[in-house]
Amino acid sequence: MEEVWVAGAAMNRFGKVPGMGREMAANVSLEAIEKSGISPKDIGYTFISNAFGISERQAHLGPLINTSLGIPEVPSATIESACSSSSAALHEAFVHIAGGFIDAALVVGVEKLSHLETLAATSYFAMGADYAFESKNGATFPGLYATLATAHMKKYGTKHEELGAIAVKNHVNASSNPHAHFQKPISMETYLNSPMVSFPLKLYDCCPFSDGAAAVVVVNPAKFKKDLKEVPAAIRASARAGSIAALQDRTDLTAIPASRLAADKALHQAKVEHKDIDFMEVHDCFTIAEVLAMEDMGFFAKGTAGKAAAEGQTRVDGKLPVNPSGGLKAKGHPVSATGAAQIVEVMEQFNGRAGKREVKGAEYALAHNVGATGGSCSVHILQRV
Ligand SMILES: CC(C)(COP(=O)(O)OP(=O)(O)OC[C@H]1O[C@@H](n2cnc3c(N)ncnc32)[C@H](O)[C@@H]1OP(=O)(O)O)[C@@H](O)C(=O)NCCC(=O)NCCS
Repeated sequence: MEEVWVAGAAMNRFGKVPGMGREMAANVSLEAIEKSGISPKDIGYTFISNAFGISERQAHLGPLINTSLGIPEVPSATIESACSSSSAALHEAFVHIAGGFIDAALVVGVEKLSHLETLAATSYFAMGADYAFESKNGATFPGLYATLATAHMKKYGTKHEELGAIAVKNHVNASSNPHAHFQKPISMETYLNSPMVSFPLKLYDCCPFSDGAAAVVVVNPAKFKKDLKEVPAAIRASARAGSIAALQDRTDLTAIPASRLAADKALHQAKVEHKDIDFMEVHDCFTIAEVLAMEDMGFFAKGTAGKAAAEGQTRVDGKLPVNPSGGLKAKGHPVSATGAAQIVEVMEQFNGRAGKREVKGAEYALAHNVGATGGSCSVHILQRV
C-alpha cells in the first residue's frame, strides 16, 4: 500500500450561507488546494458528497466543481452515506491512492439547507432512516436519537446534567472556532431551561440545520512531499463498518455496533491503542450520540461516558479532549460536509491554528462519523507528520 497524507483542508463558516451549495463547494475546494501546495491539475479524482442536493434541484455536482477548478477532464463520483457521506468519500480517496490508482484526490462535502423550513428539512433528513418502518410512520432523527437516549438513561441511569455537560463543553469549544455555526458559550442553566424537542432531548441536545462545505486534499507523499505547504496528517487508518439500519430490528438500543467495529478495525490498521489517541472529533448529532461514540469505540466503559464528560475529562484540557471544534452540536452539521469538516479541525490542530481550543502536543487524532442512527460509520486515525 502507498502512504496517504492529508495535504490541505478548508471549510466555510457553517450556518446560514448565501448562494447555492455548488458555489460553497467550489470555494472551499479551491482554498484546500491552495493550502496544500499542489495544483488543481494534479488531482486524479474528485469525490463529492451532497446527500440533499436534490432539494436545490442539483445532482451530479462533481463535473460542475471540476469545471470551476479548471479540470473538467478529471473523473468524479458522488458518494452518499447519509451523515457519514464525506468520510465515506475520504475512504474512497484513501483506497484509490493507497492502491496506487491515483496520486492525489479532492474530497468535498456540501449541504445547503437554509432555503428549507424546519419541517421540510426534517422530512428530507428522515429519508436517511428506514422509510417503510420509521419515517413513513412519523419517526424523525430527533425522535430516533431520543429513543436511544431513553434506553441509555433507563439502563445506565444517564442523567440530563451529563448530556448537558456535553452540550456546554461543545458550545464553549465552538466559541473559539471561527468556522462554527454557534460561537457563544452556554451555561448549564441555559441547557436545562431550553425547550424539549423530543423527550428526553432538549434544544441544546440537538445539532442545528446548517449550510456548509468542507474540502480535503489527499496525496501520495512519494509524489508530492516536496510541494506541500502545510504540516500534513498521515492517514494511518481508514475504516468503515455497518450495523442494522432500523431501530425496531435491533436487540440493543444502548449501543451503535458499527462504531465499535470501525474503531476496532482502525486501531488495528493504525497499530495504535486507545491511550495513543490525543483527541477525537466524534459524531455528536445529539448529545447522546457523543456518549455512545465514546463508549462504543471503547474509550470509556458502557454507562460511564456521561459521567466522564460531567467530570471534565473530555474538555480541551481534559484527559481525552472530544470535539475541540465544537462538534456537530455547536460547529454545525451540514450533513455531507461533516466528515470532511472533522478533518479540517485535525489540520487546524496539527498546524497550530486552533487558538484557545488547541490540544497541546497532539500527535494522533481520531475522526468518527456516523450515518443515520448507525447504519454506517467511518473511523479515520491521523498522525501529525
Ligand atoms: C432543534 C430543532 C428542532 C430546532 O428547530 P426550530 O425549532 O425550527 O428552530 P429555529 O430554526 O426556528 O431557531 C430558533 C432559534 O433556536 C436556535 N437554534 C435552532 N436549532 C438549534 C440547536 N440545535 N441548538 C441551539 N440553538 C438552536 C436558532 O439559532 C434560533 O435562534 P435565534 O432565535 O437566536 O435566531 C432543529 O434544529 C433540529 O431538528 N435539529 C436536528 C437536526 C437533525 O436532525 N439533524 C440530523 C441529525 S442525524
